[in-house]
Amino acid sequence: MSLTDDLRLIGEQAQEMIAGVASLEELDAIRVAVMGKKGSLTAAMKGMGKLAPEERPQVGKLANEVRARVEAELEARKAELSAIAMQARFAKDAVDVTLPGRGLSLGTQHLISQIREEIEDIFCGLGYIVADGPYVETTWYNFTALNAPADHPSRSARDSFYVVDNAPEGKEPLVLGDSDVLLRTQTSGMQVHFMEQNKPPIYMICPGTVFRPDTADANHLPQFNQVEGLVVDEGITFGDLKGTLDYFTREIFGKDRATRYRPHFFPFTEPSCEVDVSCGVCGGKGCRFCKNTGWLEILGCGMVDPNVLENCGIDSERYTGFAFGIGVERVAALRYDLPDLRMLMDGDMRFLRQF
Ligand code: DAH
Repeated sequence: MSLTDDLRLIGEQAQEMIAGVASLEELDAIRVAVMGKKGSLTAAMKGMGKLAPEERPQVGKLANEVRARVEAELEARKAELSAIAMQARFAKDAVDVTLPGRGLSLGTQHLISQIREEIEDIFCGLGYIVADGPYVETTWYNFTALNAPADHPSRSARDSFYVVDNAPEGKEPLVLGDSDVLLRTQTSGMQVHFMEQNKPPIYMICPGTVFRPDTADANHLPQFNQVEGLVVDEGITFGDLKGTLDYFTREIFGKDRATRYRPHFFPFTEPSCEVDVSCGVCGGKGCRFCKNTGWLEILGCGMVDPNVLENCGIDSERYTGFAFGIGVERVAALRYDLPDLRMLMDGDMRFLRQF
């Protein structure tokens, strides 16, 4: 077969193969097989040197034509295949913009956090500082410095979660109740921490979680929240306490609610009282919610016992003060007539979303 026939055949075969490929990779393989260093066309053109000089121009012209045509066909097919590949990608990545969107479900703050922040706002408005304290306390902060006698029943392991150390092997573990370390049963210990670190005038509240070994029922939770309050300044009287807490109860429950101060006992205040707010369900006439008394208890308070001031290095001749402890779950229950405190811990969104 002559070189001319060879060249023609190579051109025809290349054309056929190019038309038949389905991918850019296959097309490139053909380019290499025909036009590459070891390609069929390249090999044929190398054979030109053996031709008689008079044949060369004609065969050379044909060779150039074949090469140009194969190149053009390669280019054209490449453009076609690229377009097809692009269309395929568009189809695969297509987004149906007419589909309805997936809504982001936004959470809400838990009711207890909402009320805690509301209480913080009320007292910040009166110039109080918001303090924070440890959940794990020693008996000094939780009881002793707060004037609780050594035999006070709340110290027993039935009323407090003591933290028992894990005794090393061969050593008796601490008996519950013998430990000096416990989960705080009240936020009142923060009174002591704060007075140790700050000089009067003191206007402080401390919101926080407290723990007691109670079985959860409609009215009790083993873990709940309090907001402690402490004021220590010169010339503070019971009138200041009453004015402050009357203002607080009206802010949190509404202007139409009345308050009542009942004498009570707390080791760290003298005198002490419990504050009731008139029942919002019956307006004070008496109903099932207020157990027919017309009143609902919301907090404990009193004038800071001079012993507590002295335990914290504050001159009780010069300074007086008052303290109070608000139950956050109680405020929530009274404001929204919650029948069962456990609803606050269940995490049932149908309940929590209402607030
Ligand atoms: N710590 C008390 C309790 O848990 C509440 C309380 C009562 C706090 C009187 C006070 C107070 O600061 O003055 O029952």
